[in-house]
Amino acid sequence: MKKKTEFVYFISVFIAMLIAINSCQKQSRSDNNKTSAMEVKLDVKKEAFWKNPEGKNVDLYTLTNSQGLKTKIMTYGATVVSLEVPDRNGKFADVALGYDTLEEYVKGNAYFGATIGRYANRIAKGRFTLNGVEYKLATNDGENHLHGGNKGFDKVIWEGEPFKREGAVGVKFTYLSKDGEEGYPGNLACTVIYTLTDSNELKISYEAVTDKPTSINFTNHTYFNLAGHGNGDILNHELMINADKFTPVDEELIPTGEIQSVKNTPMDFTHPMTIGSRIGEVKGGYDHNYVINSGGDLLALTARVYEPTSGRIMEVYTTVPGVQLYSGNFLNGASGKQGKIYYKHYGFTLETQHFPDSPNRPNFPSTILNPGEKYIHLDIYKFGSSPNKL
Ligand code: GLA
Repeated sequence: MKKKTEFVYFISVFIAMLIAINSCQKQSRSDNNKTSAMEVKLDVKKEAFWKNPEGKNVDLYTLTNSQGLKTKIMTYGATVVSLEVPDRNGKFADVALGYDTLEEYVKGNAYFGATIGRYANRIAKGRFTLNGVEYKLATNDGENHLHGGNKGFDKVIWEGEPFKREGAVGVKFTYLSKDGEEGYPGNLACTVIYTLTDSNELKISYEAVTDKPTSINFTNHTYFNLAGHGNGDILNHELMINADKFTPVDEELIPTGEIQSVKNTPMDFTHPMTIGSRIGEVKGGYDHNYVINSGGDLLALTARVYEPTSGRIMEVYTTVPGVQLYSGNFLNGASGKQGKIYYKHYGFTLETQHFPDSPNRPNFPSTILNPGEKYIHLDIYKFGSSPNKL
């Protein structure tokens, strides 16, 4: 009997998905017609933005595709400052949380939109041993190291170089992280390329090379609210994460080392469920690393999010083995862009990553980068909309 109910459930989810995909395609065809009439052009534009506290220029790049999607990305932290995408009626809203001024980005510790490195997420006690040498990192989250330390990649100025090619525009950001920066070994030459395509994808690709063995884990820390930033909480967003397992954490959000099944727990997003459905059963809210079913390496669908009032859909694809679901638990009513206030759960992140604390966990996929090797990681955030509830 249970099997039969599961079968019926499976079939109805499958049919609903086919209908949604079909209507998404129709919607995107009609969006195409609308936008071609408006003649939005694929474009990348650079403007001087702000100066950082040391008086250095920070530039802002605006990328626009021919569907009208627009994202602004600045050289400080190679940070996504805004991201405008259409709803089911073609109405655009900025779905990324952020600030209006550089001062707020400099002072802030929410990592809005930023590129995170050298190591995204936590390293226990800010220590790891590599080839018999112990490295001590900056500790900026109690006793632990978080998101690259006191001055991670989110707080440095990157070199930007815009580009335009058939069907896409983008910016290539580069930064040389010196040997010893925040305690890490090796000079690390880093590249982050943002590409906005005419198929409504924001692609982020990361590359790095080192001259000494080191540990590395990049991510992007954009907080999304698909109803528009500052427009309520994200608890009604329906989320699917393509992961049967996650890495449980202790009180300090450090992985215990286990890899646990999500089955029969509030961590289970294998079937779409609103973020709010079971969040009350998760102490502190979601702030957990999922073990993506693809296992990493191949670009695979990682997550799909649907916001019912606007119909906006976001799909996330990645080549790395994990993704952190963070439900904006530490947002506390601070002011964001355009006078909007960001309360608890007003944004969520899906941070594609290697598992937290991997340098101290030999059973997790390795994050070691050796001289002569190249770190490569690709993410795609794809936007669409559906007239129907999924
Ligand atoms: C990540 C962490 C969270 C928190 C945010 C920033 O998502 O996992 O615990 O530190 O960054 O506030």
